[in-house]
Amino acid sequence: MAEQELMEKIVSLCKRRGFVFPGSDIYGGLSNSWDYGPLGVELKNNIKQLWWKRFVQSREDVVGLDAALIMNPKVWEASGHVATFSDPLVECKKCHQRFRADHHLEAIHKWVISPNEFPKEKDLPEDIKGLLICSVSDPVHLRQHDLGPAKQFNLMFKTFIGPSEDQTSVAYFRPETAQAMFVQFKNVLDTTRRKLPFGIAQQGKAFRNEITPGNFIFRTREFEQMEIEYFIPVPTVDADWNEYFELWRQDILSWITRDLGLSMEHIHELEVPREDLAHYSKRTMDFEYHFPFGVKELYGLAYRTDFDLKNHERASGQELKYTDPETGEKTVPHVIEPTWGVDRTFLAVLCEHYKEQIDGENKRVYLSLPPKLAPYKCAVFPLLKNKPELVAKAKEIYSQLASHDSLLPVAWDDRGNVGKRYYSQDEIGTPFCITVDFDTLENDTVTVRDRDTAEQVRVNLDELVNYLNEKING
Ligand code: GAP
Repeated sequence: MAEQELMEKIVSLCKRRGFVFPGSDIYGGLSNSWDYGPLGVELKNNIKQLWWKRFVQSREDVVGLDAALIMNPKVWEASGHVATFSDPLVECKKCHQRFRADHHLEAIHKWVISPNEFPKEKDLPEDIKGLLICSVSDPVHLRQHDLGPAKQFNLMFKTFIGPSEDQTSVAYFRPETAQAMFVQFKNVLDTTRRKLPFGIAQQGKAFRNEITPGNFIFRTREFEQMEIEYFIPVPTVDADWNEYFELWRQDILSWITRDLGLSMEHIHELEVPREDLAHYSKRTMDFEYHFPFGVKELYGLAYRTDFDLKNHERASGQELKYTDPETGEKTVPHVIEPTWGVDRTFLAVLCEHYKEQIDGENKRVYLSLPPKLAPYKCAVFPLLKNKPELVAKAKEIYSQLASHDSLLPVAWDDRGNVGKRYYSQDEIGTPFCITVDFDTLENDTVTVRDRDTAEQVRVNLDELVNYLNEKING
C-alpha cells in the first residue's frame, strides 16, 4: 500500500469510526486541531494508563505529579524558554504566508534539489534563502515564494491572567510538562523522602504555537506528553550518567516493542548531533518511527545535566538540593529525561496495526491492536436479532462481562448479520467477538472469534471470563 494511501485510510477510518474528528468541525474546523471521539478517547486513555502503570505504579523509584498548565512566568524565564524556545520563521514578501525555515528547506531537499548534496540552512547563499521554491507540505502544487530572512519565532502561547491585559499579567501555557517536576522537586522530595536516583512523572497537555503543524495529529499546537525527570547523583565521569541513559533507552525500546507492539524495523534511533541539541541538553537520542509521511521523532531521551534545578535555584532563591542521608552532603542532582508524546504514540499505534486482508472477494480491514490498548476488549452478539431467547441470553452475558473491571469496556452489537458485525469490530480493533447461538441455549457454550486469525473456538460460559482475561491481560 502506498504510504500516502495508508495515511488517507487511517484518517478516514478515524473519522468514520469515531477515533479522531476535526476540531470545531461544524464551523469548518480550526487549523490542525483534532478532537478524540468515543473510541479515540478509550485508546488514548489506555495508552496513558498502561504507561502510568508501567513507569509509575510498578516502580519504587518513580512518583507522580499533576501540575497546573499555566505556571508563574518566571518559570519560563529561568528555564530558558522565553529566550530560546523558538523556531526559525520565514515569511513570503508577496503572499505573507509563514513557514518554518528548516521544514521549508527540508521540503526543497526532498522534491527540488538533489537529495545528496543539500547544504545546511546556515550554509545556503543569501540569494537562495530569498527565493525558495515549493510548498512545505504539497509537492504537487509547487509554489514560488519570495521569502524574507529567517527570524526566530517564540513558540510559547501567551495569555493574560486576570482582567487587565498588560505586561505585568502576561503568562504562558506550558510548552512542556517537564518544568513542573523541577519546580516541585523540593516539595516532592520532602513529602516522599525518596533517595537518589528517583523520578517524577507527569502526563498532560502542552502547548506550542507551531509555525507549520501538520500530518494529522503528528504535529499540533495542543498535544499531550508523558514525561519523567529522573534525578541521579552528581556524576563524576560521563560513564555515571551514561549508565542511567542506557537503562532508560532500554526501557523506552521495551515500551515501544512490548507494550505498543511496534516493530523494531520501523524504529530508528537518532543520536542528535551536538549542534542540534536543545539549549538544556548535553546528549539527546530521538526514537524515530517510520510514519507514512517519513521517519519522524516519536520520543526523546535527554541528559539535562543540572541545568534546570540550578537555574530555578538561582531565579527563585530557593534551595533545590538533595541531602545525602548518610553523609549529609548537599548536592544538586543531575537529570535524565525520557519523554513520550501521547498523540504520536496514538498515531504510530494506528499506522503499525492497520491491516488489510484480501479473502476471495472480500477485503477485511482490522486493527491488530495489543488487547490492552483496544477500545473494546470484546463484543457480544446474538446470532439472530429476531429471536428473543437469543437476545435475552446474549444480553445476560454482555451484562456479566461488562461488570468485570479487567474486561471493560465491552461492546454490544445486534445490527446486520454476524459477518458484518465481525468486520465492524475488526476495523476498530476489538480482539474478541462472542456469539450467542442456539447451542448456547442448550449447553452454555459460546463462540469466541479471534480478530487476528479469524479462528473460532467454543468456550464454556463458566470459563469465559478466565479465558478472556488470560488472552487480554496475559
Ligand atoms: N521536555 C522535553 C520536551 O518537551 P520535545 O522533544 O520538545 O522534548 C517531547 O517533546 C515529545 O513531545 C516529542 O518526542 C513528541 O512526541 C511530543 N511533541 C512535541 N511537539 C509536539 C507537537 N507539536 N505535536 C505533537 N506532539 C509533540
